[in-house]
Amino acid sequence: MIQVDDCLNFEEWRILARSLLQERVHFDDIDWTGNNAFSFHEKYITKKSEVIVPVPKEFMKSAMIVGAFRDDSNWSLLYRLAYRLAYENKELLNDPLDSDILEFHRRHKLVTRDMHKMKAFVRFREVIIHGETHYFSWHRPDHKIIRLIAPFFRDRFNGMNWTIMTDDECVSWDKSELSFSEGVPRSALPEDEAENLWKTYYSSVFNPGRIKEKAMKKEMPVRYWKTLPESELISSLMQEAPDRLEKFYDDQREAGTGSVLEKCRACGICSHSSGPVKGQGPLNAKIMIVGEQPGDEEDKLGLPFQGPSGNLLDEVLKKSGFKREDIYVTNAVKGFKHVIINSFRKHRTASASEVAACRSWLKEELRQVQPELVICLGRIPAQSLFGKMLKMSDVRGKLLSSPMAPKVVILPHPASILRADPEMQDELREKYLNDFLEIRALSS
Ligand code: URA
Repeated sequence: MIQVDDCLNFEEWRILARSLLQERVHFDDIDWTGNNAFSFHEKYITKKSEVIVPVPKEFMKSAMIVGAFRDDSNWSLLYRLAYRLAYENKELLNDPLDSDILEFHRRHKLVTRDMHKMKAFVRFREVIIHGETHYFSWHRPDHKIIRLIAPFFRDRFNGMNWTIMTDDECVSWDKSELSFSEGVPRSALPEDEAENLWKTYYSSVFNPGRIKEKAMKKEMPVRYWKTLPESELISSLMQEAPDRLEKFYDDQREAGTGSVLEKCRACGICSHSSGPVKGQGPLNAKIMIVGEQPGDEEDKLGLPFQGPSGNLLDEVLKKSGFKREDIYVTNAVKGFKHVIINSFRKHRTASASEVAACRSWLKEELRQVQPELVICLGRIPAQSLFGKMLKMSDVRGKLLSSPMAPKVVILPHPASILRADPEMQDELREKYLNDFLEIRALSS
């Protein structure tokens, strides 16, 4: 067994992995967890071989992102995939059901999202050092993204001196060069006078009755609140205003999809999963997509349509000219119904009574969003909206009216296409895309 004890970042992994691949070292023969003090690093990085083992560029590009994922198993997953791609299956990246590939995509998505949040939520404090302005920020990313994201901030704030600090690592830009240093705690962030002024202003205009906690959390996950000056004040201001606070909670209860959904135990599903997965998207969306129920990935991430079905949905939406972020996406059943087989969580179709138990949440979402058009993906959401099972071949793509929404179109669930005979895939995907193109024409 080869023990790798000092693989710290993607570049190091890449150099090491290339040499190990050239030596054809099997993935089961390497321990990447760094628990052993004995390193084989030198031996492998100095060894030269005439043969370069080809690994698809596309993989390496995504692997660079996945390399930032915070998990001890990360380097071994990347190496296993590189090995399998090089020696076992060149087409592996196109296998949507392979568990390594699924995990690779899941990690890619989470790191990308984390980078997106960092771009949106970093706030700088202005500090004068020796007569020169320097901007500081402290951020807590979920993953080790600082090196990946540094070029974005360099290009965006090219004419400023700045430092972004994190627990893991800090990056500074001095208008000519990026440099990296050790991570620091949040308390290292210098005080800022302008920020204190901003806090005073914020206190004077604060109205807890108008705070939409759900919308705030959706736009800005709670962990980022810490880095914003005004967020420090929110909890104390709320406690100072009990009357208005009560109204705030009343609003939440009335809105239904807030804190109350989390506690819903109308059927047994949510007690056996991570809890309900809420809808995602703007509350003023013109289109609402209703799927069946969250799957394994959606349950882990707490967001609808993230796994293979979500990828296919994203693809057809994009190709048909829709923007997913303009659409409110949810499910007829909010919890992940499953059974555990060989330690895998296998999806199980919700029963009619479970669909009915969850219907009030869907109604509440429809009441809040009031979409012009609802697209049901699969028979379960159609059952929820129409109160009965419909035959897909009778209703597919037709504009219908349900007691819960005036305009509804029913389409097959993306999973039914992914599960179909591989020889039929192209045809089915094309037909599916045409369904969405027709809806696009209908709704524009
Ligand atoms: N399938 C669904 O119906 N909904 C999801 O959110 C994911 C997969």
